[in-house]
Amino acid sequence: MKTSRVTIHTLREMKQRGEKIAMLTCYDATFARLLDESHLDILLVGDSLGMVIQGHDTTLPVTLDEIIYHTRAVARGATRAHVVGDMPFMSYQAGIETAMANAGRLIKEGGAHSVKLEGGAQHAELVTRMTRSGIPVMGHLGLTPQSFHQFGGFKVQGREPGAAERLIEDAVTLERAGAYAIVLEGIPSEVAERITAAVAIPTIGIGAGPSCDGQVLVIYDLLGLNDTFKPRFVRTYEKLATRIRTAADAYVADVRDGAFPAEAESFTLDPGKRAPRADAPLAAVLHVGGCAPAAVDDLPPLPEAERGKR
Ligand code: KIV
Repeated sequence: MKTSRVTIHTLREMKQRGEKIAMLTCYDATFARLLDESHLDILLVGDSLGMVIQGHDTTLPVTLDEIIYHTRAVARGATRAHVVGDMPFMSYQAGIETAMANAGRLIKEGGAHSVKLEGGAQHAELVTRMTRSGIPVMGHLGLTPQSFHQFGGFKVQGREPGAAERLIEDAVTLERAGAYAIVLEGIPSEVAERITAAVAIPTIGIGAGPSCDGQVLVIYDLLGLNDTFKPRFVRTYEKLATRIRTAADAYVADVRDGAFPAEAESFTLDPGKRAPRADAPLAAVLHVGGCAPAAVDDLPPLPEAERGKR
């Protein structure tokens, strides 16, 4: 059965109905398939991939080509969720024409359904141009990680006098410019609540309290893949770092003492026992490139003319 795609209109209707929006970051097709099954509304191919996948200290080194590569994988895996491609640092700040071309690549080459960019009023003209050209835009306000050096680190925003008002103005300006949703990151709950009331478009919070119209987390944080990283705003639903270490330890022990592979995990010359066929492609027999080893009954019969040649 084909499930219908979550669109920017679905998301707006969810806000109107008071239905919370569930969003997670996602970087590959396997996770996209699994998260789709859990009915995530939005999958964000975030530039956080620079930190959790590439091992950088900030999101700043991520390139547009890298985001496109991961977006393509996620778009292939997700049939229901709305897929957002993150505009990486300096892919939209240097000029409107470049930004338009880059956003277009995320949609055309990456298969994203919309793009996200960080910042408020300073990008109003760009957001208007994009939305008028058919590219839906998600805004991102507060602790915007691409401003790491400007902020002097990953610091909660919106606490200084006047800062809350500026954030509200930014949110209203983004909405007027045509943005369909806004991520609110690392700001006091009270400020997020005021912004959420001030705009008709959904707000999606991360470290912004419970009043937002939806929530987003980095999937690797939620799964506990880095057990040295435990900021206040993250809830870990799994301890995968521990479980992966345990599984890898068990595998290493089995390989070292010869317990893996067992007979049941091996092939023999007896065809009844699924021995590899002589004409099986070498890659299949050797289990190269992620394909399962081909046994006699995995392969189609050879055409008459080919028999005996290999
Ligand atoms: O890059 C990212 O993952 C993000 C989310 C944390 C909102 O921008």
